[in-house]
Amino acid sequence: MGMIFDETYRPFFERTQREGLYDRRFGDVSVPLTSVATRTGTRADAYRKSAGSAIHPFVSHSGNDAVDKMLDAGVDFACVATPDNRHFEAAKKVLDAGAHLLIEKPSVLKLQELDELVALARRKNLLAKVVYHKLLDPDHKKLRTLVVDGVLKHINTGYCSLLEPKSISGGQFAEWIVGRNPGTYVACHYIKLIDFTFGGRLKSVNATGQRGLVGPHDGPTWDSTQMRMVYEYEDGRDAAFDIHTSWVTPDNFPGYVEQEVQFRFDNGVWNGHSRKRGVECTVEGETPLKRKITMNNHYNGTFLEPWGERSQRGYGVEVLERFARELAYVKFGGSAAESQQRLTEVQALSYNDLAADRQSVAAVQALEAILDAHAKGEPDCVVRINDPKGGLVMYRPGVSEPTVLYSGRV
Ligand SMILES: NC(=O)c1ccc[n+]([C@@H]2O[C@H](COP(=O)([O-])OP(=O)(O)OC[C@H]3O[C@@H](n4cnc5c(N)ncnc54)[C@H](O)[C@@H]3O)[C@@H](O)[C@H]2O)c1
Repeated sequence: MGMIFDETYRPFFERTQREGLYDRRFGDVSVPLTSVATRTGTRADAYRKSAGSAIHPFVSHSGNDAVDKMLDAGVDFACVATPDNRHFEAAKKVLDAGAHLLIEKPSVLKLQELDELVALARRKNLLAKVVYHKLLDPDHKKLRTLVVDGVLKHINTGYCSLLEPKSISGGQFAEWIVGRNPGTYVACHYIKLIDFTFGGRLKSVNATGQRGLVGPHDGPTWDSTQMRMVYEYEDGRDAAFDIHTSWVTPDNFPGYVEQEVQFRFDNGVWNGHSRKRGVECTVEGETPLKRKITMNNHYNGTFLEPWGERSQRGYGVEVLERFARELAYVKFGGSAAESQQRLTEVQALSYNDLAADRQSVAAVQALEAILDAHAKGEPDCVVRINDPKGGLVMYRPGVSEPTVLYSGRV
C-alpha cells in the first residue's frame, strides 16, 4: 500500500466500488477490495480512515504471514505492489493459493523466477499478468499504431530517459533502497515499450552507473544508471537502445519526473516528451515544490469533471481496469464449458502476460548482474542473449570463462 497504491489502485478500487464493471459479454460485475496484506498495517489503517465509505470494508492483514492470511481468507485475484525485489515470493503464494495474479513492473528479477510463475499459472489455469502502465500512454499507443501500420519503417536506434526526484530515493523508498538501482525500477518501462512496440530478438545488454549520493560511492546502491540493449530483427539488421534513469534529480525540478524518448527509423523520427505535452502552470508560493509546474494529466490526474464529479483517471488507472475486465471476461463472458478457451485467449495478450515478459526480464536480470559485478569491482561486463554458452551469459573483461546467468533459451 505504498505510492503506486495511492496513485492507481486506490482510484481504481474506489471507482469500481461505486460503479461496478460492465460489459455486454460479462454483465455487471462487482470488484470489491476485500483484503490487503502489508507489513505493519499502518498504511491500511490510514487508508481505511481517509477513504471511509468510498471503499468496500476490507480486512487488513499484517505481519510476516500477512499474505498467507489474506489468501487463506479467499480472494479471486491479488495484486503485488511491493518493492521490486520482493515480488516473486508473494506472487508465487498468490498462484499457489489458486488466485489470479497481477504484479507491478518489473514482474520479477530473474528468468528462473519467471519460468516458475508461468508454469504454475498454466498448471492451475490462472491469469498471471504484469502492469506496464506506460504501454497505455496514448502517445505510446500512437507510436505502436504507426509502427504496426507500417507508417514508421524499421527502427534503427532509440534513447529514453526517466529521471525521478531525490525525494523518491531519500524519502519514499529509503526503507528498501540499499542495494537497489533506478534502472530496474523505471528503465523496465522502456525495456517493455521497446520490446512490445518493435518486436525483434534481444542480443546483448551492457550498463554502467553512478554512486555517491544515495549511498557510498563504492557501495551497491545506485544514483543513476545507463543501459544499452541491442536487438536484431528478422531481416538481420540491428537496432541499439540507450536508457538513462536516475532518482537524484533535485526536488525543485519543475515536473514530477522527466520522461523523454527518441526513436529513429529508416524513414522517420519520433520525439516524445511527457512534460512538454502542453501545460505549464505557475502558482506563487506553491510551484515547483508543493505543486509541479509541468503536470502529467494523462497518468492519474485528479479532475473536477464538467458534470461536477471529482475524479482521478488516466492510463495508470485504465491499465488496472483492463486487467479486471480481462478476468471478468474469462470468468463470466460466456458458458463455463468455454472458459478454458477464454482463458487461453486472454493469456495470449502479450502486452501484459507473464509468459510474454521473457526478454524484458532477461534485460532486467542482465542489468542487475552487470551492476552487481560493477559494485564488486568488475565494471564493463556485457551480457549476451542466446549465445552458444547459454540463454543469458555474462562476459567479464579479461576473464575468459563467462558466467551463465540462465542456461535455458530466453
Ligand atoms: N511509484 C510509482 O510511480 C510506480 C509506478 C509503477 C509501478 N511501481 C511499482 O510498484 C511497486 C511498489 O512501488 P511503490 O512506488 O508503491 O513503492 P513504496 O515504497 O511506496 O511502497 C512499497 C510498499 O510495499 C510495502 N512492503 C514492503 N515489503 C512488503 C512485504 N514483504 N509485504 C507486504 N508489503 C510490503 C511497503 O511497506 C510499502 O508500503 C514497485 O514494484 C514499483 O516498481 C511504482
